[in-house]
Amino acid sequence: MQIVHTKAEVRAAVAAARARGARIALVPTMGYLHEGHLSLVRRAREQAGWVGVSLFVNPLQFGPGEDLERYPRDLARDAELAAGAGADLLFAPGAAEMYPDGAPRVAVVPEQGAEALCGRARPGHFRGVLTVVAKLFGIFSPDVAVFGQKDFQQAALIGRMVRGLDLPVALDVAPTVREPDGLAMSSRNRYLTPEQRVQARALSQALARGRALFAAGETDAEAVRSAVRTRLAEAGVEVEYVELVDAATLEPLRRLVPGAVCAVAARVGTTRLIDNTVFPAGEGALPL
Ligand code: PAF
Repeated sequence: MQIVHTKAEVRAAVAAARARGARIALVPTMGYLHEGHLSLVRRAREQAGWVGVSLFVNPLQFGPGEDLERYPRDLARDAELAAGAGADLLFAPGAAEMYPDGAPRVAVVPEQGAEALCGRARPGHFRGVLTVVAKLFGIFSPDVAVFGQKDFQQAALIGRMVRGLDLPVALDVAPTVREPDGLAMSSRNRYLTPEQRVQARALSQALARGRALFAAGETDAEAVRSAVRTRLAEAGVEVEYVELVDAATLEPLRRLVPGAVCAVAARVGTTRLIDNTVFPAGEGALPL
């Protein structure tokens, strides 16, 4: 696996792979790779003859007071893991390579859907995500890009960007990879103390409670929302939101139908965690 730090090196590697007739896949990450990321790399590998992984802690998607400075970073470890999962290239640019003008003079701003869910507590977050992902699409010109369902709102907004800007890339959304006790894998799990790690199980347990209610015939979104909130409160985690939304529009639902998404964000100590489930199956085909 090649490790490169400049856009020119990525473009040269992609051109060489295309010249051999390879389909190009991209897995964008912020690094500190875990099994969730590696499942995306393996999934990309199944769909393409050449797989690039980007590793960039994108300052544009962090708000003031968020964890940009302390976000875990370990390039050597990430390189070993990405190579083991089948990546051909790891792109680890510095901020000046990605944003040579400092603050970007052009950004991708979602017109709708970014103010809901995570966007309420993280204004500007999805502008930062879409801008960097659009840049990565420009740098790699991938045939397919793979994202995880855990960041469901992100995946939905990237889908809108791709359709809205007619970007020639197929999107693939992979199921959330979980720890044996159900906790969704996240680079931020490493901030949790052992006690908080136990509390954090409440997110997936609360979602399972919601799914069980739906499976038992409950279609009133408020009833399900309240049951999910109660489970989170019982575990002593600070709920930021519990929302039941239409997977395509991200609009809140009153009546639940198959395909509805229940999304949660909560703070365990100072760590903000997110998770979601699609009714009825848990993981599911998201309409991007
Ligand atoms: O999901 C992430 O890790 C990031 O939001 C992404 C898509 C790599 C953009 O920085």
